[in-house]
Amino acid sequence: MPKLTVTVSGSVQAIQFSPGSSVREILEGAGIGVRAGCRGNGACGLCLVEIETGETPPPTKNERFTLPPEQLARNVRLACQLLPANDLHIRIINTVSKPAWRDLAPDYLPCTPSHFVPTDGKLQAETAYGLAIDLGTTQISLSLWDLKRGHRLHGRVGPNPQSTYGTDIVARLIIAGDSPENARWLARLPLDAVAEALQEMCSRSSVPPQQVVKVALVGNTAMLALLTGADSRQLLQPQNWTRPVEYRVEQAQAWVSVLRIHPQATVEVISPLAGFVGSDLLAGVVATRLADQPGSLLIDFGTNSEMALWDGRTLWVTSAAGGPAFESCGMQCGMPAEPGAIYRFGGPPGSDELNFQVLGGGEAKGFCGSGLVDLIACLRDRGELTSTGSFSSPRHKDGYAIPPTDPAIRIVKKDVDTFQRAKAAIGAGISTLLARARLSTKELSRICVCGVFGQNLEVRNAQRIGLLPDTPPELVELCGNTALAGCERLLLSPEGTAELVSLREQAAIINLSQAFEFDSLFLENLYLQPLRVEKL
Ligand code: FES
Repeated sequence: MPKLTVTVSGSVQAIQFSPGSSVREILEGAGIGVRAGCRGNGACGLCLVEIETGETPPPTKNERFTLPPEQLARNVRLACQLLPANDLHIRIINTVSKPAWRDLAPDYLPCTPSHFVPTDGKLQAETAYGLAIDLGTTQISLSLWDLKRGHRLHGRVGPNPQSTYGTDIVARLIIAGDSPENARWLARLPLDAVAEALQEMCSRSSVPPQQVVKVALVGNTAMLALLTGADSRQLLQPQNWTRPVEYRVEQAQAWVSVLRIHPQATVEVISPLAGFVGSDLLAGVVATRLADQPGSLLIDFGTNSEMALWDGRTLWVTSAAGGPAFESCGMQCGMPAEPGAIYRFGGPPGSDELNFQVLGGGEAKGFCGSGLVDLIACLRDRGELTSTGSFSSPRHKDGYAIPPTDPAIRIVKKDVDTFQRAKAAIGAGISTLLARARLSTKELSRICVCGVFGQNLEVRNAQRIGLLPDTPPELVELCGNTALAGCERLLLSPEGTAELVSLREQAAIINLSQAFEFDSLFLENLYLQPLRVEKL
């Protein structure tokens, strides 16, 4: 049997394989993760490996399309496309970092106090703990609460393990739709991750997991569909995008045994508003008290970016494809906002010097979403990028390398294109909401930017390249993870649940793909310039 020898993070491992499998399949079979953002069809370009020695078949059509010629010339290949027949020695360029849970940063939940006055009298009478979960496409955040005292004991955040099988939600829906086994396996991945984080939080707080009596969970529609085993194929059909959907945990018992919580614990999945508007958005509206002030706009940036505008009577809601731009997973040197990510770029005015700041302060490994926004704004200021998103100098045909990072961290044209498409869709969404509410940008009283992406955002840079409306920057609030904050409120207080019911009644959902003005607004907002909002 031929052997695949792998160098990964300095150590070498040999795996025997039968010809016919791709390098990605061989590696995964041996428990070695390679970064991936598609189903293995050569589209994302993330599963990079370098051939050290051995014979390989010529690059496939997909590899020639996805990889620049200089990478192919350096024997860099896509693991999912490479089907070896003989002994081969490779080095993995993009490894998957082992899921690592981190404590929630103190400013992660600025909207909720860590103490809460519990209003559920029944719970005050007994020792009881609760778990709030925000199930995101890229990250899972959760917090453990003492329900009797209304006190947050711990909060953790970590990667959604499903990301390895598709950064893009549609890829995961397709995998789940292929067979019931696939669907069950995808559903189990985040549940196991939650169980691991819960056990860790319980042991750190000396709380027996069996005393966790209540679980509340929010998420985007696709995540909830995958988790509850609902028929996720329906979400791919446009006629279901604006219809109400209801998801329930049919197998609460299975959750109880995986999470090892109280046998009679209630597990409540907060249902989405509609096919493309998840309960994470609703939780965000609850957490920010958006409906307290007319002219309040909420934007939750993510792979599916959701927006809500309160005009005093109606909650106008829509969503737009953010793709991987704001979580940076599909970018050549992108990474989530975690230690090692460049989150801020800048430099003295009028100079070519480009400074950057790294989360955690260590060595730079890539850039996260807020770093991407800053970098694009800085390159526009320096004339390195045109308003159409092209590099102005042929020197940067292979991208703009950020000195003095080693190995070079670079932003390539494809990254800029991805960002432009995402911000154009969001710009069109904001314009459409304002038009439906008959409001102008000047009438906006608050802009709540939610999600991990927003936490480190430099508001003026985001406004200069058209990601946020051009309002006085002090109207913009960087709110952190409002989905988890809202979920905590729903876990602890029946009033939160009543608020949710009334929000559902006041919501008007707009399907952007059917909005007549969408195409022209999208094209206009592709430019890297301040957001254009038409009063229609
Ligand atoms: S290109 Fe190989 S997994 Fe996406």
